[in-house]
Amino acid sequence: MLDLLKNIENTFRESLDSITDEAALEAWRLANLGRNSPLMKAFSELGRLSTVERPAAGQMANQVKQALEAAFAEKAGQLKASAMAKSLQQEKLDVTLPGRPFRRGRLHPATANLRRMLAILAEMGFQVYTARDIETDEMNFQLLNFPPYHPAREMQDSFYVEAGERGDNPVLLRTHTSPGQIRAMREYAALDPENPPSIRVALPGMCYRFEQITARSEVQFYQIEGLAVGENITFSDLKGTLVEFARRMFGQDVRYRFRADHFPFTEPSAELDIECYVCGGKGCPVCKQSGWLEILGSGMVHPTVLANGGYDPQRYTGFAFGMGPERQLMLRYKINDIRNFWANDIRFLEQF
Ligand code: PHE
Repeated sequence: MLDLLKNIENTFRESLDSITDEAALEAWRLANLGRNSPLMKAFSELGRLSTVERPAAGQMANQVKQALEAAFAEKAGQLKASAMAKSLQQEKLDVTLPGRPFRRGRLHPATANLRRMLAILAEMGFQVYTARDIETDEMNFQLLNFPPYHPAREMQDSFYVEAGERGDNPVLLRTHTSPGQIRAMREYAALDPENPPSIRVALPGMCYRFEQITARSEVQFYQIEGLAVGENITFSDLKGTLVEFARRMFGQDVRYRFRADHFPFTEPSAELDIECYVCGGKGCPVCKQSGWLEILGSGMVHPTVLANGGYDPQRYTGFAFGMGPERQLMLRYKINDIRNFWANDIRFLEQF
């Protein structure tokens, strides 16, 4: 019996030392301190010893049991501590680390440029007025002096929303911002039909044309329409306003020219060109050898259009202009493909 107890005492530490997890420790406890363990069996056999042997054996059995229990408790404590240390290590949160950088959003170049142009116009007294994207044939063409079969309609192939369903007044996506002229005039005229107030508005908005998409033309693009109506407005006012705009947009020393043109809703009409930024006016492929680049269309509001807006053409005159913000941005930054604007390629967008 004493040999058996000695043997248990001599070997239990070794088997305990190699244990590294709680499941193995529990197995060890069952094997060494459980009911069927050699030690417990020794306890139950104490009664069969002689009274001479029994006290020494009993004492020894108790010592061994205490040693095992103490070693077990110590090992259990160690495992717990190392599990804790391990999870602290794994879940460590270093609050002093720098955060992950956020990519900052920014305005789309077309939006930023639109705002810049509107800001220039605002400094010159033009108030922003927004009209609708979906228009009727009447607003987009007829009231702007395009008769039903006017050939000018051919140059603006349109997206019809309800083709055929509204007779000769179908619904379409506006092909230009000019129908906003009629809407603005009618709204102002309604304030005082006998004495309509003078107007100075800038109308920004998306326009849509059913065209082949190329480097030079898109199916959708912004326009900014300008409209000034009042008594004694002359062609000089138109020229002065647009030249001042071109200077603020392209630089004080920009070279420009007005060129006679035709629009059904203005008379007379003129386009404004600036000198080609690529060749400095000598002639190159970008300006098609002319030395000039067109930046806008303009003219004195046609008397019929004034009347359609509720303004008496005997008393009132006005000028209007329409320009393409993307086109002007392309000129300023030498962008050679208009498709960049809506392709959403971050490498392009981030440059602005
Ligand atoms: N609406 C014309 C276009 O789309 C531009 C324009 C506007 C011309 C106002 C004259 C006056 O090209």
